[in-house]
Amino acid sequence: MKPGNTKAIEEMFNSISSKYDFLNDIFSFGLHRLWKRKLLDILNPTYGEKWIDLCCGTGDMSILLASYMKSSKNITGLDSAFQALLVARERSRKKHSSIEWIHGDAIETNLPSDYFDGLLIGYGLRNLSSPEAGLREAFRILKRGGRAGILDFRSIQDGYIQRLFQKIYLSMYVVPIASVFGLGKEYSYIKKSLVNFPPGSEQIKLALSAGFKKAEYKTLAMGQMGILLLSA
Ligand SMILES: C[S@@+](CC[C@H](N)C(=O)[O-])C[C@H]1O[C@@H](n2cnc3c(N)ncnc32)[C@H](O)[C@@H]1O
Repeated sequence: MKPGNTKAIEEMFNSISSKYDFLNDIFSFGLHRLWKRKLLDILNPTYGEKWIDLCCGTGDMSILLASYMKSSKNITGLDSAFQALLVARERSRKKHSSIEWIHGDAIETNLPSDYFDGLLIGYGLRNLSSPEAGLREAFRILKRGGRAGILDFRSIQDGYIQRLFQKIYLSMYVVPIASVFGLGKEYSYIKKSLVNFPPGSEQIKLALSAGFKKAEYKTLAMGQMGILLLSA
């Protein structure tokens, strides 16, 4: 599957939704929870604020956000994969039932402008047909002064060892394990999606040209992951 093909990406995420969380824990050794938590610690979402989790998938970040804010009111999760949203709704049914789950496109959300205090994207920007358009839409729906945090794999341009590690990790750990669950083809997509994913310095430029006032990029997990921190 080619990166940028919105329909094919939607179908792929629908097809992996039932095993997504389980595999995520295996692939990151559970560390994705720490990285998501770190993102929230930096952004410090506060009770009463309106937050949106774009490309929310099975709802991991939205649910973490609800626990963090000690309220699931004013939290919206949006994703284009309907099956993933069904998993999200089920996961949040008991403790975080006020989270609003929206089936939609992160590039054209049809949500009001200047509305949210905060915005998250976890491992989603890389999957959009245009990360630039995604950043423009994120800026549009945020209030001025609102903040955003975008966590994803890092597109590693420098650092031979880090690049080699990423290649080996994706080809010799992620894909073979996913293959055991019949999802090798789906997970081989991660490597392809990184080819044209802008590096941190480029993401900063895209965010500033999308309208954000401040943009900063931090690396995590020995340079394998990155977070883009934005102020609207
Ligand atoms: C790797 S998953 C990340 C899920 C979740 N945010 C997490 O951190 O575990 C990427 C998600 O992006 C969603 N996605 C891809 N393109 C999208 C788009 N144009 N609009 C909304 N969601 C999209 C996929 O359906 C998928 O659920």
